[in-house]
Amino acid sequence: MRVGGRAEWLLEPATPEELRAAIVAAREDGVEPRILGGGANLIIDDGVLPGVVITTDRMKRLFRPVEMSAGLATELDARIAPSPREDGLRFVAWAGTTHQKLLTSACELGWSGLEGLAGVPGHVGGGVAMNAGGKWGGMWDQVERVLVVDERGELVELMRDQCSPTYRNGGLGRKVVASVLLKFRLDSTHAVKQRAREFLLAKNKVQPVSLWSAGCIFKNPDPKLADGRTAGQLVDAVGLKGTRIGDAEITDLHGNFFVNRGQATARDLLALIERARSVVAEKTGVVLENEVKVWLAGP
Ligand code: EPU
Repeated sequence: MRVGGRAEWLLEPATPEELRAAIVAAREDGVEPRILGGGANLIIDDGVLPGVVITTDRMKRLFRPVEMSAGLATELDARIAPSPREDGLRFVAWAGTTHQKLLTSACELGWSGLEGLAGVPGHVGGGVAMNAGGKWGGMWDQVERVLVVDERGELVELMRDQCSPTYRNGGLGRKVVASVLLKFRLDSTHAVKQRAREFLLAKNKVQPVSLWSAGCIFKNPDPKLADGRTAGQLVDAVGLKGTRIGDAEITDLHGNFFVNRGQATARDLLALIERARSVVAEKTGVVLENEVKVWLAGP
């Protein structure tokens, strides 16, 4: 959203092991670190954020595993790549890999499964943590295993059936994603590209994808409580589209997309979110819950 201030401390691990060490170092100093992926679904407060931020930006490795029995924690040689037709169809993606890079690489090999992430910004770590996606599917549809730094500060590999992802929640709690093993279906490059393009075009029609936003601000409410209406439709129905506080604006195109028109501050955006939540609650009885994450600098 291009708002927010600076971090007191910023750590930049380049490997899962360095990520683990960074988390442990912060916790040893009595600080629970905040993990920054692509920042695509995040509003960072103005001013200086106290404590430790760990960015996964340098953890960009994406490769095809050759020794599955060894598990994700093993150092695998990214240069050895079996033919796409072999029964592999798997990528290991470290947390800092962008969704875009993952999608393009799968597409080149004709691997299908994550086309639903077309146009979804951000990094794989955040995508797994939040179960990123939309109506055409999402991250956890393809997850086979995930390597996390757990609450005790250890690298632990979880199998898919040990995890319980739900709508917009990977269900990992305080565990931090270091790497993930994703399984695909073999299709053709043409078909995968075509599907991703169709999804992107459909999304472009209803969402202001090129403006500075954090994607959807609110989770879609339980359809039973909201007569089947989405968060965007509720904000739309109460007439809030176009509302502005400073340079923060609810877009005319989509009621669940709030954008920074240039000079918005985090506080402008947070005030706009609270205004939308309270007007929707008052007029429809539905209390919208944030989908976007917010990092506050103070109480
Ligand atoms: N609509 C309105 N008015 C609005 C907004 C939308 O009438 O102000 C209508 C649209 O015209 C469309 C329908 O509502 O017919 C649904 O809109 P959309 O396809 O954008 O779906 P959504 O439920 O609002 C969800 C996800 C999006 C994801 C899309 C497509 C949530 C909170 N949002 O949006 O995810 O891109 O489906 O799969 O689950 C995100 O998570 O950040 C995000 C953008």
